[in-house]
Amino acid sequence: MTDIIEKTELSPVAPIGVFDSGMGGVRVLKDLVRVLPEEDFIYFGDSANAPYGTKTPEQIRELSVRAAEHLIGKNVKALVIACNTATSAAAEILRAEHPELPVIGIEPALKPAVTAFPGGNIVVMATPVTLKLEKFARLLGQFSGQANVTLLPVHGLVELIEQGITEGPEVREVLVSHFAQYPGRHIDAVVLGCTHFPYVKDEIAAVLGGGVRLFDGGDGTARHLREVLEERGLLRAAHEETAPAGGAVTFLNSLQDVSVLEQMWRLFRS
Ligand code: DGL
Repeated sequence: MTDIIEKTELSPVAPIGVFDSGMGGVRVLKDLVRVLPEEDFIYFGDSANAPYGTKTPEQIRELSVRAAEHLIGKNVKALVIACNTATSAAAEILRAEHPELPVIGIEPALKPAVTAFPGGNIVVMATPVTLKLEKFARLLGQFSGQANVTLLPVHGLVELIEQGITEGPEVREVLVSHFAQYPGRHIDAVVLGCTHFPYVKDEIAAVLGGGVRLFDGGDGTARHLREVLEERGLLRAAHEETAPAGGAVTFLNSLQDVSVLEQMWRLFRS
């Protein structure tokens, strides 16, 4: 048989696929729904394989490709990588493998932090892999000399957050031990460069004291998605004559445990 070629047109009324290593991206999803309330979303949390941030880039790439293919199998019109680690390791390969599909990644919100605190002391908290990969080096390079940026690779926090532990002594201990590396230095802003970390922002504020501004990339990602859909003629609202339907959210998880889906709904509604 000769080879077969195919071309599918993306449908403006199709859902948008979103994935993360687990619970972190649910916060991003809230920003996506706020900015695009008329769209449908399917969110995949790969909790069975979390955390991604301590795996090799090859392992993260493989898991991300599998997560993306699962969502693409549901005919999504765009893919949002709601995970800084997976974006760093796999965004390029996903774009190369699916050139027809808009693939939106998230990156640490360094730009808004530097804009708010030029010349200031800024700490970027992220997974070790995110901070090690070329993508972050390029982002950092754009702001060299514009602020005093310190990188803080964080171990042990994602695991707690995946278990639903977002406050209390265990979380505080991890934070205190990480920030102890910078004794006595004034911090103006902390960039939460992992989508799990906004869940512990109250604990971060408690450990660092009021005054410190926290930045995350959820809102920027949502606005970027909106722009890309608009440019590509894929906004649902632009294609429905009556008031657009939509607004549906579906959660999927690789962990065979219904309580994980309930936890995702709780986080989404909180
Ligand atoms: N939430 C992910 C991120 O933004 C990674 C957490 C993990 O699985 O290590 O980097």
